[in-house]
Amino acid sequence: MKISLKLICLIVLCLIVNRSFAQQQTIDQKVDALLGKMTLDEKIGQLNQYNGDWEATGPVTKDVGNKLDEIKQGRVGAVLNIMGTDHCRTFQDAAMKSRLKIPLLFGQDVIHGYSITFPIPLAEAASWDMEAIEKAERIAATEASASGINWTFAPMVDIARDPRWGRVMEGAGEDPYLGSQIAIARVKGFQGNGIGSPDAVMATAKHFAAYGAAIGGRDYNSVDMSLRTLWEIYLPPFKAAADAGVGTFMNSFNDLNGIPATGNSYLQRDVLKGAWKFKGFVVSDWGSIGEMINHGYAKDNYEAAQEAITAGSDMDMESRSYINNLAKLVADKKVPVTLIDDAVRRILRKKFELGLFDDPYKFINPDREKTALNRPENLEAARDMARKSMVLLKNDNNLLPLSKNLKTVALIGPLVKAEKELKGFWSLDVDQNKGIVSLMEGMKNHAPDTKFVYAEGCTITAESHNGFAEAVAAAKKANVVVMAMGEAPDMTGEAKSRSNIHLPGVQEELIRAVKATGKPVIVLLMAGRPMVFNWTADNVPSIVYAWWLGTQGGNAMADVLYGDYNPSGKLPITFPRSEGQIPIYYNHYNTGRPAKSDTDLFYVSAYNDLRNSPQYAFGHGLSYTTFEYQNLELGKFKPSVKGLKPIQVSFMIKNTGKRAGEEVVQLYIRDMVSQPVRPIKELKDFKKITLQPGEIRRVTFTIKRDELAFYNDKLERITQPGTFQIMIGSASDYIRLQKSFELTN
Ligand code: BGC
Repeated sequence: MKISLKLICLIVLCLIVNRSFAQQQTIDQKVDALLGKMTLDEKIGQLNQYNGDWEATGPVTKDVGNKLDEIKQGRVGAVLNIMGTDHCRTFQDAAMKSRLKIPLLFGQDVIHGYSITFPIPLAEAASWDMEAIEKAERIAATEASASGINWTFAPMVDIARDPRWGRVMEGAGEDPYLGSQIAIARVKGFQGNGIGSPDAVMATAKHFAAYGAAIGGRDYNSVDMSLRTLWEIYLPPFKAAADAGVGTFMNSFNDLNGIPATGNSYLQRDVLKGAWKFKGFVVSDWGSIGEMINHGYAKDNYEAAQEAITAGSDMDMESRSYINNLAKLVADKKVPVTLIDDAVRRILRKKFELGLFDDPYKFINPDREKTALNRPENLEAARDMARKSMVLLKNDNNLLPLSKNLKTVALIGPLVKAEKELKGFWSLDVDQNKGIVSLMEGMKNHAPDTKFVYAEGCTITAESHNGFAEAVAAAKKANVVVMAMGEAPDMTGEAKSRSNIHLPGVQEELIRAVKATGKPVIVLLMAGRPMVFNWTADNVPSIVYAWWLGTQGGNAMADVLYGDYNPSGKLPITFPRSEGQIPIYYNHYNTGRPAKSDTDLFYVSAYNDLRNSPQYAFGHGLSYTTFEYQNLELGKFKPSVKGLKPIQVSFMIKNTGKRAGEEVVQLYIRDMVSQPVRPIKELKDFKKITLQPGEIRRVTFTIKRDELAFYNDKLERITQPGTFQIMIGSASDYIRLQKSFELTN
């Protein structure tokens, strides 16, 4: 019986594999047949992408002819920033008038939601909740694909260790393991049941590669790093996205060790299309092919086009280098037509997979558009995602959660009434910002019997103290004060790097003034990056980091403040004590002179004017309940590199408080002696566990060979014998349990 069941499973599996192989084969045949009919100009047209009519994130080439006419001539393969079924239809109609009727791709930066705005990606990363993140992207894809979009320029999977960099808000933070898991969740969410499903959009892993390591955190700056760091830290999320089946990659603006990513054949040909066997296509970043002239890498657009196509950039976004130069490059025998064919094949294959040749209007369905946006159940999911994204940084004396029976609560600060600001950078204005819930509204919804007194106190950036007196008076009238402070939403995002990441303006002075009233003060901080707020961190009893939480932000903040949701977020990035401490990240090397304590200065690797620890460490985040960790055990395993079998690590965790809560348990490993050296700890796994009060549960992790492996100086992935330390933490700086084991040769 058992055997026949196995046999049946095997036959079914073979049939499935065979079917998808056959499908792919027919797509390849269709691509080849179409390619055979195309003129060189039509091929080059497929490699050309134009922006719509508005300037988005870069200069639009203007007055160079009518885009719709160019589409009719088969000179355009994709467009971006064309939204809504009406608008998309106009463009697709034009494509249908071209000789070969090759449909257009409609690309859009659907970064954290389409009509419903979800928390910014960095905030979602703080949830460490892969299911919720996947669901958020699923909803974004459902909305976008009902509105004409079939391709999103997301997820951004750039690792970022520098909060000065404005685009830190767009990624998953500093860690390659967490970043990889989130990359997978996002790709799965966007692409749903696969490219071609009517409610899926093709995803893009960007920006390939190492864009997040711009020197000094200044956007578009150069990147200079060892290949080992590239492979250890920056490439893993890209590899994870490729393995998860992401349709496309976008290259990046930066140069990597002197070679612009757009013209970098090591990255695009050797690694991505070579070693990783990536079958999708690579789109340039906005104008990045032409920008190789500014880099000093190409003399003109002719040379830039040659470098880019040779290096494996398949589609030119907005620089017009391909459309204006590739034909001549072929005629001059500088670019073989086989290179162009390869790029066209990759693009056509995706258009076939999306089903656009069967129905170019597949995603342009006004009826679907009318019903798919802003659905109540999706707004509820956005609220849930927002709750999960908040991080309780501090909660002395359990000031939080608030009672709903408080007589008077003062709401103070420049962001109390913020609505559209809550959407943060990279959000879309699909629905004219209808239905966004402010903090004030959220609080009132939760505690209808409480009297709320409001004072703005100060603006986000101005230096004026004029509103302080009113704010202090409001605080004096209240039982508790909630202050909503932070950055402006456009202080993070593309081209939004800052040298000063302190809480802006006079906001921290306002917090001091209000705190001086003696009233209990809770500070909510909204921002797209880690900010510096040392006085607040040292003196205010309760601090919640609320990032930019999107459409449902106000409700979600109130859910957390009133304890309807017990916070569970953990920081996906280290919070520094000052800009001078940057880059600061948890997975650093020990150095030859590590500091022995937070204040140790005696000829050790430290700053003389600052404590050694960060303000808040990677993985930090509190709950309204408490968790106890006990009994770390390693299962039996063969302790030799050669015979290494998966190692079971298990421990008990108990909810010792009075509320149900979720805890993100984090598994870190340190390879104690190694050549080259390894970081003092590296996240290798995590689980988010829900426990009722008093509940105790066993948690098991499985460590496999790859978790003990690393790249040596020849970029070979190896496992070395020696001592490994296993650490179970509730934060990278709060290790609850640890044990070591020896691996022999
Ligand atoms: C950004 C990309 C984005 C593109 C299109 C560029 O400036 O770097 O991330 O996808 O614009 O909007």
